[in-house]
Amino acid sequence: TSASDRLVLTSRSPNNSVAILTLNRPKALNALSSPLFEQLNEELEKADEDESVKAIVLTGGEKAFAAGADIKEMKDKQYAEVYKTNFLGSWTKMSSIRKPIIGAVSGYALGGGCELAMLCDILLCTPNATFSQPEITLGIIPGAGGTQRLTHLIGKARAMDMVLTGRKINGTTAGEWGLVSRVVGEGENVVDEAVKVGETIAGFGAVAVQAGKEAVNEALELPLDQGLRYERKLFHSLFATADQKEGMGAFAEKRKPSWTNQ
Ligand code: CAA
Repeated sequence: TSASDRLVLTSRSPNNSVAILTLNRPKALNALSSPLFEQLNEELEKADEDESVKAIVLTGGEKAFAAGADIKEMKDKQYAEVYKTNFLGSWTKMSSIRKPIIGAVSGYALGGGCELAMLCDILLCTPNATFSQPEITLGIIPGAGGTQRLTHLIGKARAMDMVLTGRKINGTTAGEWGLVSRVVGEGENVVDEAVKVGETIAGFGAVAVQAGKEAVNEALELPLDQGLRYERKLFHSLFATADQKEGMGAFAEKRKPSWTNQ
């Protein structure tokens, strides 16, 4: 496939440690068609397998991160088909990626685009990004986390407001509501800032980073007592790593640690 056919472009940060995946269907505002999501899953898995990659940045274009699932692709589908093929089910593959995924949102993050953003581990956006779950305007409801992850992130009343009215919120509000972790300043480049976050993470030991991501994700799945036990087990397990000896040894010796990711 030539570069123009590729629905997901890949590049690296200057020091090679951060893989940058860019959704590349600008004419359709990065509508998330099945082929696009297939390529995205492939690229995410490749980055996850590649030892030199320590973090992944996922971004779209300036006008649109992604304007949703592909409405033209799904408009004529029948119930039996979407049920039998588990339509959109493959989106959850992204939650099995072990390396941190940092989303960088500029422009529209609508419907499936907002849901894709919420599948990222850390989310940055521009102040005038647009987040919305407009499915109600299409006679449907969100189908990839827009009623579940959104409610965890911003609470019931705000999630109901977005899901039942299709209300749009901008990046600044998304920051205030906790939908994103950082809103970049006017004039700052959201992808550059996301890469900086990735490079910071890449500077730490990969085993601890993976454990941190895994433990935080369990907080959304488990009751508190089980979550705390899960966290402590992982915490204890890190005492079997060279990086724990190195990190604490370096602190005691007042020097910079040198991680071996072991
Ligand atoms: N699916 C398919 N095509 C889409 C699309 C989508 N979600 N969003 C935009 N496009 C296409 C448009 O059809 C248009 O294509 P043509 O040039 O062939 O006509 C092209 O992208 C550019 O879009 P517009 O001309 O509409 O651009 P605009 O600047 O006037 O408007 C917009 C931008 C407000 C984002 C508007 O495109 C829009 O409302 N898009 C749909 C948003 C939406 O409803 N998303 C939810 C989808 S459902 C879903 O995601 C379900 C789920 O839970 C997974």
